[in-house]
Amino acid sequence: MKSSSLQKRLGLGLTLGMTLLWLGATVGAWLVVQHELNEAFDSALEETAQRILPLAALEISNREEPRDAQHIATLKMHKEYLTYLVRDANGEILMQSHDANPKIFNKRPSEGFSTTKKYRLYGASAMRGTLFIEIAEPLGHRREAAREALFALLLPLLALIPISLLGTWVFVRISLRSVLAYRRAVEARGVGDLSAINVAQLPAEIDPLADAVNHLLERLRKALEAERSFTANSAHELRTPLAATLAQIQRLRQEAPEGPLRVRAAKIENSLRDLARLSEKLMQLAKAEGGGLLPEAPQDLIPLLAHVVDEWNHSSGHRIELQLPTQASVYSAIDPDAFGILLRNVIENALKYGAADQPINVSLTNQALLRVTNGGPTVPESALQQLTDRFVRGNNQASGSGLGLAIAKTIVQGVGASMTLTSPAKGRADGFEVSIQFCSAEAPR
Ligand SMILES: Nc1ncnc2c1ncn2[C@@H]1O[C@H](COP(=O)(O)OP(=O)(O)OP(=O)(O)O)[C@@H](O)[C@H]1O
Ligand SMILES: [Mg+2]
Repeated sequence: MKSSSLQKRLGLGLTLGMTLLWLGATVGAWLVVQHELNEAFDSALEETAQRILPLAALEISNREEPRDAQHIATLKMHKEYLTYLVRDANGEILMQSHDANPKIFNKRPSEGFSTTKKYRLYGASAMRGTLFIEIAEPLGHRREAAREALFALLLPLLALIPISLLGTWVFVRISLRSVLAYRRAVEARGVGDLSAINVAQLPAEIDPLADAVNHLLERLRKALEAERSFTANSAHELRTPLAATLAQIQRLRQEAPEGPLRVRAAKIENSLRDLARLSEKLMQLAKAEGGGLLPEAPQDLIPLLAHVVDEWNHSSGHRIELQLPTQASVYSAIDPDAFGILLRNVIENALKYGAADQPINVSLTNQALLRVTNGGPTVPESALQQLTDRFVRGNNQASGSGLGLAIAKTIVQGVGASMTLTSPAKGRADGFEVSIQFCSAEAPR
């Protein structure tokens, strides 16, 4: 399952929660406001009716012909907001405001509040129920007031939603900065670096996780160290008794009379030599895995290469052709001992498995690409990839332990280089080629 972003989840969750709460609060506030508005409007309506009624009663009783309906003239024509009718108990109109439309009022005058489709009405009576005033207020006004209150409450939400989204995003991003730093610290680790990862100010929720990772690293490091030191120690401890036994058997062989005893002693001597070689390779592997492959300053590969090739040429009858780069020096970060071990294993293979009548080509380019090529039978593609595994050997008669390329691969990985095996070698129909691309480095000052 794809992991989801905390930032996205918190942003959406908080914003959605806030919006819902805000909407709930808005509805509550709106209901209260509406109720209060109605109360205020009603009381104003009532007040107005109560004010007009005595005046109307006075005027009507002063008339000579009280039965005549009368429109109250206005000083200036205007649109009335409140309209009123003054009627007697039978519904006969005695007085009305100039804009009043009798159709909007109840057929018979009534007291108290009532609501029609478009108006809020209030009626009051005087002179013992013979004179009624009814006053009408259009509902549109109240509705508009309620609507505007609602808008005023909802409007901030439009701004709040993006602010909340952005705010959460930024806040979570800032809070998780140390977690990102932690991730970078883990990613930046070189191969074989199992030291504790320390990042300051991790959030309290993540801190235990980092501690647990450090504990795990520590246990892993101890386990690997134990394994390596066991290998290295055993190989080292074997060295002396092996050398002593080898010397003894050599003497035994020389002293033995010509015949089967001498042949047998020679066989034992060979087995002991193989054993000594194996223990040497195990020590090399332990060293390669033990880290410390990266030196403090980059090394010039040319003299190191020339030295190892020289050494082999002495012991192998000058079969190796060395091709150096045009540059005077090629720097790369690799421990000189490790470089020597790597090179010896690869050249040893070329001498051992390459066609005896063909030279071995060793070349280094300006870009720190090292190639070791030999002739001889090709190795099938399917077998090629497994050759770098430990104790894996090809199909051949020569003796060996199958550790050489595993040692080379471990060193190459430890210094961040890359190794490719090709067969047949590039540009020819047979043979085997090992190419190693080292990381070029600046010359140290
Ligand atoms: N230059 C080469 N030409 C042809 N085959 C090779 C070459 N280098 C390695 N191989 C094949 O790869 C196999 C593994 O090589 P590797 O160096 O790991 O082990 P080894 O040489 O058999 O033993 P060791 O190096 O431990 O003494 C070899 O057995 C051989 O078959
Ligand atoms: Mg080998």
